[in-house]
Amino acid sequence: MKFIFLGPPGAGKGTLAAKVALSFNIPHISTGEIFRTAIKAKTPLGLKVQEIIDAGSLVSDDITIELVKDRLTKDDAKNGFILDGFPRTIVQAESLATFCNIDSVVNFDIADEGVVERLSGRRVCKNCGQNFHVTFMPPKTESKCDACGGELYIRDDDKIDAIKHRLDVYRKQTAPLIDFYRNKNLLTDIDARPATEIILGEFESKFSK
Ligand code: AP5
Repeated sequence: MKFIFLGPPGAGKGTLAAKVALSFNIPHISTGEIFRTAIKAKTPLGLKVQEIIDAGSLVSDDITIELVKDRLTKDDAKNGFILDGFPRTIVQAESLATFCNIDSVVNFDIADEGVVERLSGRRVCKNCGQNFHVTFMPPKTESKCDACGGELYIRDDDKIDAIKHRLDVYRKQTAPLIDFYRNKNLLTDIDARPATEIILGEFESKFSK
């Protein structure tokens, strides 16, 4: 299956995608994660996008579309994938349709208060990128990753001003994709408020393997 995970920042797209990728044996392709890896490695792409991402704005459509187009040619994406965080604009969605047929778009539904609560408590492993939450998914040892022991940090775009800006960008540029895909009969809404295991159960009952 070829999925798009759509929803506001902090809706839990990345957390669920990591689990669905394992249970459906398909890659989890997060444009945000690709950009963060490039920033960490100080590649030319990373240097170009760092300020934009830290501020919570969107990277240009051209750069992002080329990156995804290239990623989807890799062998592991032949039998399906989860696109997490792409497309994020109508231009990106229209371009994607020219080189790939998507099976389903999953829309994560959560109110702004839930987003702020999740993002302001998020902690991420510097080493392997695993997500935690100080209240909802705390690490076993404070500030250390359960998976690899790496140090946990707060993303620059999880500071309150950047969160507010990301929500604004989401409303203006990404939310119109909900109707775009609903009109194509590709959209499935999912309640993003419950615990991840409950959402995963709902997801698995909707999409047979
Ligand atoms: P990206 O990394 O995609 O950020 P995002 O869409 O803002 O999504 P997040 O990673 O913040 O949230 P999420 O929904 O994955 O939530 P998570 O699972 O982590 O993009 C970053 C930046 O890159 C963008 O701002 C932009 O600059 C650039 N970019 C990326 N794609 C682009 C594109 N297509 N075009 C242009 N620019 C692009 O969960 C959040 C927290 O909540 C965690 O702490 C988690 O532990 C917790 N949590 C998750 N689920 C639950 C649950 N069910 N119950 C309780 N807590 C939960």
